[in-house]
Amino acid sequence: MKRIQYHSYGGPETMKLEDFELKPPGRSEVGVKVKFAAINPIDWKVRSGYLKMMTGKQFPRAMGSDFSGIVTAVGEGVTRFKLGDAVFGMAHIKDGGALAEAVVARETFVAKKPETVSYEDAACLPTPGVTAWNGLVDKAGLKPGKHVDVFVNGCTGAVGEAAVRLARMFGATVAGTCGHASMQRARDLGVQPLFDYQTTDLSAVGERFDIVYDTSATMTVATGLGLLRKGGVYLDIAPAPIKFIRALINRKLKPVICTARADILDGLAGAAAQGQLRLTIAETVGLGDAVRLIAAIEGGRKLGGKALVAM
Ligand SMILES: NC(=O)c1ccc[n+]([C@@H]2O[C@H](COP(=O)([O-])OP(=O)(O)OC[C@H]3O[C@@H](n4cnc5c(N)ncnc54)[C@H](OP(=O)(O)O)[C@@H]3O)[C@@H](O)[C@H]2O)c1
Repeated sequence: MKRIQYHSYGGPETMKLEDFELKPPGRSEVGVKVKFAAINPIDWKVRSGYLKMMTGKQFPRAMGSDFSGIVTAVGEGVTRFKLGDAVFGMAHIKDGGALAEAVVARETFVAKKPETVSYEDAACLPTPGVTAWNGLVDKAGLKPGKHVDVFVNGCTGAVGEAAVRLARMFGATVAGTCGHASMQRARDLGVQPLFDYQTTDLSAVGERFDIVYDTSATMTVATGLGLLRKGGVYLDIAPAPIKFIRALINRKLKPVICTARADILDGLAGAAAQGQLRLTIAETVGLGDAVRLIAAIEGGRKLGGKALVAM
């Protein structure tokens, strides 16, 4: 079998498409024949060694987090899945391995793919959807029937689009920013008022919000906090250690770290099945072209949606 892996932390040149042998799933793990994998910024952040305290020194390391596919093996104690189930999910950050013909993942990081949701759409959901959910629901307490005004900075990025769609599903109104080229897509998502981040000084915006989610990691904490009304919450997707310390003192500041759970993945599956959660797909390539595409996105190529790899 083939997968994208690397033998040392570093730049795009370290990525290789190589043969590997899939290990059998361990306790509470499933083996999945991958149909589609989605590319996320975390893929190259991990590969660059940014998280090496967590991801360790063992090589080769497999790349990729998010996938959809079919369960081909179940480890001891697995209760959520059986052979042949259509699923989507994410590999654990310590293991990676979604940019591959097959992957092993924890069963709590996997959900059944609804029949009405395509494998392509399902593969886009895990990291952006879980991160949006962690912020809005787990940290900011968004729930159905409680009307709130949400502001999403970067509302047409992957986490941004997931946040807009989930917030609207829960009944919130959503304002936000995006780049000039994405204005129409943001309007179609129902984002109103909408600000062009290239021409707007957010510290001069007059409106105030219950939840401000910086999904593009480009806001200053001061600007984010300044957009809040009384009792509001600022969700920070780029949490440096200092921000966790600051968050202990300032309860309005909530750092978000993508943390998957079975109930969240099931919630994303439910939202997708109801037609309320779907991310824009911009480009799909085969596994043989994936290294080139990852390097291009990492180098700043803008796609205007998710990039997928078909196995
Ligand atoms: N904390 C966590 O656990 C976690 C989890 C997932 C992602 N992340 C991080 O979150 C960020 C977004 O991830 P993603 O997958 O959503 O990436 P993405 O799909 O590339 O989206 C990034 C978005 O940011 C927008 N943007 C760029 N500059 C901006 C600015 N100055 N103001 C407002 N928006 C701006 C881009 O718009 P244009 O394309 O129009 O420029 C794009 O829509 C990445 O840094 C990623 O590493 C963190």
